[in-house]
Amino acid sequence: MSTHIPDVLLARLLTAQRVTAFTGAGISAESGVPTFRGNEGLWKKFKPEELANLSAFMKNPDLVWEWYQARRTIIGTVQPNDGHRALVEMEVLFPSCTVITQNVDNLHRRAGSRNIVELHGNIERNYCLSCGATYDGTDLPHTAGVPRCTRSGCTGLIRPDVVWFGEMLPEDEWEGAVRASATADVFFSIGTSAVVYPAASLPLTAKQQGAFLVEINTERTPLTPSADLFLQGVSGEVLPAIVHAVRERRTP
Ligand code: OAD
Repeated sequence: MSTHIPDVLLARLLTAQRVTAFTGAGISAESGVPTFRGNEGLWKKFKPEELANLSAFMKNPDLVWEWYQARRTIIGTVQPNDGHRALVEMEVLFPSCTVITQNVDNLHRRAGSRNIVELHGNIERNYCLSCGATYDGTDLPHTAGVPRCTRSGCTGLIRPDVVWFGEMLPEDEWEGAVRASATADVFFSIGTSAVVYPAASLPLTAKQQGAFLVEINTERTPLTPSADLFLQGVSGEVLPAIVHAVRERRTP
């Protein structure tokens, strides 16, 4: 492993009871899922106000649906990477380990993480705007454009179960995220630009409540000055190096 893991982090991890990982689009970049910001980011090519909000969907449901279908196609062809898998191993290494993700790509679950808080929804789920009936990818009516609800005579529009701009985060998920942040001994902020609130407040909550705050990113972010440790690099290398270092120290 080439990434050097500083002793100060190892010392914290060797006594940690609760570890929380807060992830953003960067953790899936090595799987081939485009991030939102940056030169190759999705929001350089598409405007959020034209796609990721309810009024855009009501105005042009087929366009928004097709955009999500295109993202589903990308996500369906990619695989979880070593960064996702290292977080699965952390569930074994620590008494309590939670992944709070802003990603809707389902890759943490596919990798095998079990304790996941999905703050911004999950692109594989959908629900009817009129009656709330839920649909996973397999039971969706097949249509060229946006599908309509088929339950008990309802013909409402079906939308992806993702949080759009201007919408509240799911209450249970938010409460779970705040709890896992406020009680963390070590908190990792991984592959997120840390600019979208309220999610971006979680690392600061963790730090205020006494967690050792570690940021893993290829670039500095607005969070970097608040981090106790900034590990610059790709999460698919840095996270396995951390797991490897903890395992080595624990082995007598
Ligand atoms: P961004 O696209 O804003 O940020 C991705 C971050 O990952 C950047 O800081 C990159 O430097 C970093 N990065 C890229 N590749 C990396 C790698 N291999 N290893 C480590 N870091 C890497 O994505 P998010 O912060 O997730 O919201 O964006 C937050 C929210 O904004 C998203 O959940 C989405 C979007 O609007 C909703 O859809 C509600």
